[in-house]
Amino acid sequence: MSRKVTKAIFPVAGLGTRFLPATKSIPKEIMTLVDRPLIQYAIDEARAAGIEEFIFVTSRGKGALEDYFDHAHELEANLKRSGKNDLLDVLRATNMDSGAIAYVRQHKAMGLGHAVWCARRLVPDNEPVAVILTDDVIMGDPPCLQQMIEAHAETGGTMVATMEVPMEKTKSYGVLDVAEDMGAIVKARGLVEKPKDNPPSNLAVIGRYILAPTVLQNLNKLREGAGGEIQLTDAIADEILEGRDVFGLRFRGQRYDCGSKAGFLQATVAYGLERGDLRDEFLEYLHEIVSLQRAAE
Ligand code: G1P
Repeated sequence: MSRKVTKAIFPVAGLGTRFLPATKSIPKEIMTLVDRPLIQYAIDEARAAGIEEFIFVTSRGKGALEDYFDHAHELEANLKRSGKNDLLDVLRATNMDSGAIAYVRQHKAMGLGHAVWCARRLVPDNEPVAVILTDDVIMGDPPCLQQMIEAHAETGGTMVATMEVPMEKTKSYGVLDVAEDMGAIVKARGLVEKPKDNPPSNLAVIGRYILAPTVLQNLNKLREGAGGEIQLTDAIADEILEGRDVFGLRFRGQRYDCGSKAGFLQATVAYGLERGDLRDEFLEYLHEIVSLQRAAE
């Protein structure tokens, strides 16, 4: 049995340039799918998995993200006075316990590995820690991180979420070199970040990780990898070189790449259809627009 995972790191320092001009003034993590910011989906997933401490690695211009987690006392009082209890519940569900969130600043954009390394002092050196990339939104039941925590309780070591992608897309991902395929769980013999050619498989790393404490120590080397950045994938691959286990979990669920505009739109449709209060009207509209588009082709 490995130690319980109670802390998660959320690297949220990215500039979000793919979503300019919106990201000129709002952090991309505040962008909403229906009415919930991306960060709220990530936090909800972490909470469902039993995470109690949330470490945000932020940067300049992310003030709105920090404010988002403050309790909105005036707004709550206002909703209470006007008897809007449904909205009050929605708001209260976003409240975080005092002291549950820590912010640490990444002063320079030096890659995902560097962002995670910035949080190292907030994680005891004998504890595993989860990492969630808010761009990867995963609709799953149970939520992806919970599936991973349950699998990790059996396997120990380091675990990444993984899914098959078309071979030609592997160059956009960390890719697993598979030593042993056990079905839902695969054991890795290596990992390559954004392979330019000869990808070792088409199993891509998706933005959920449970890191053994030694991964943060591997990051101390601050070695540059793909794209001249300090890569988390490389620090995980070092685990294997040093004789420790790394697993991939083929999670059950649908992943949306909300770091891309097309993925963001797909997620918006999917989450819109999930909502009981919107589904019928939205579906009717989708049918209508699809037939109009077809007729125009
Ligand atoms: C990051 C990781 C990569 C992973 C991907 C998943 O890349 O470096 O290993 O496959 O997230 O979304 P990014 O998309 O930030 O370039």
